[in-house]
Amino acid sequence: MLISRHLISPTDFTVEEIERIFTLADQIIQSPKQYSKICEGKILATMFFEPSTRTRLSFEAAMSRLGGSTLGFADPASSSITKGESLADTIRMISSYADIAVMRHPVEGAPKAASHYSAIPVINAGDGGHQHPTQTLTDLYTIRAQKGRLNNLTIGLCGDLKNGRTVHSLIEALSRYKQIQLYLISPTELRVPGYVWEKLRTEPNILFEEVTSLDECIQHLDILYMTRIQRERFSSEEEYYQLKDSYILDREKMQQAKKDMIVLHPLPRINEITCEVDSDPRACYFLQAQYGMYVRMALIVSFLGVLNGQSEPSAIKQMAMPKSDRKYEDVFCPNKHCITKREPNLPSRMFLTGNSQQFFKCEYCDIEIKKEKLLKLR
Ligand code: NCD
Repeated sequence: MLISRHLISPTDFTVEEIERIFTLADQIIQSPKQYSKICEGKILATMFFEPSTRTRLSFEAAMSRLGGSTLGFADPASSSITKGESLADTIRMISSYADIAVMRHPVEGAPKAASHYSAIPVINAGDGGHQHPTQTLTDLYTIRAQKGRLNNLTIGLCGDLKNGRTVHSLIEALSRYKQIQLYLISPTELRVPGYVWEKLRTEPNILFEEVTSLDECIQHLDILYMTRIQRERFSSEEEYYQLKDSYILDREKMQQAKKDMIVLHPLPRINEITCEVDSDPRACYFLQAQYGMYVRMALIVSFLGVLNGQSEPSAIKQMAMPKSDRKYEDVFCPNKHCITKREPNLPSRMFLTGNSQQFFKCEYCDIEIKKEKLLKLR
């Protein structure tokens, strides 16, 4: 069903495709045995250049429960990257050995870049402070399961909205559902980045308000999505220490919330939700993590096209050799966290966007910059 595709951004699938993945996840949860051999003979590669517990292990568990096998690394120090191998060559090699690859990387746009050189589907498992689309599928699935709908919801997103990639992806995905009201709850230093704000500003389906206090809005929420302050993305420890306890959800705060509000969190939690909240029936974050494995099972099955006896791809894979067909290949992305700053051989992929084509946008990291400003930097 999704053969020859990648999952880099949460809107790479249509709303209908997402619903089909969720229906399949429902079926897998109901009859896991029926799917326990469906991926026999298939290999999933995990390439984790950044720490992970849930995402990597849930992908590995998902593939094992489908009867397939896994290979890969959780620590780039054990791969040839330390010898200086490029991302393009690394993914070319992985794609000759495996059928599907999952990549987490600290640099924004790395999975997107890898997808250009890959002969197999690449799944973005988190790229720097940018996007995390499989967490978003998990979040949406949990909302659908607990609330019975993905439209007409008031959602509070709370914490580090600047660096929290799960929040960026969730906002992008929610923009395709109807009657969504968002409260963006963060310290001013940690507001959503420009490209996310721009999306919100121009999106007719979403109404949003930026607030600094959780008390101000908790009583209106159907869903409270808590996030941790992302220590590893701060440039100074001092700034982190100033902001680290900005929000703490405790029993007292939960008393102000609706009886049927649910609390989500992508985890790991540090101290932004106290342990006393765990036993509140509205706390759904551990269930959310469980659902994550089933959503990933459905995703793998869909990508590999193993349902209904779809045709086998050829055993010898054609290596991708992308050529830049871009008009602006001499215009470079200014974002210092973008993969183009790390991989000197990657072609620049800036394109014009906005109503009057006044902005350049980077295809890898999504950063937007005024056309004149960037042309001056050339
Ligand atoms: C998130 C991530 O890696 O972005 N974790 C996860 O994948 N469940 C959230 C986080 O690290 O704070």
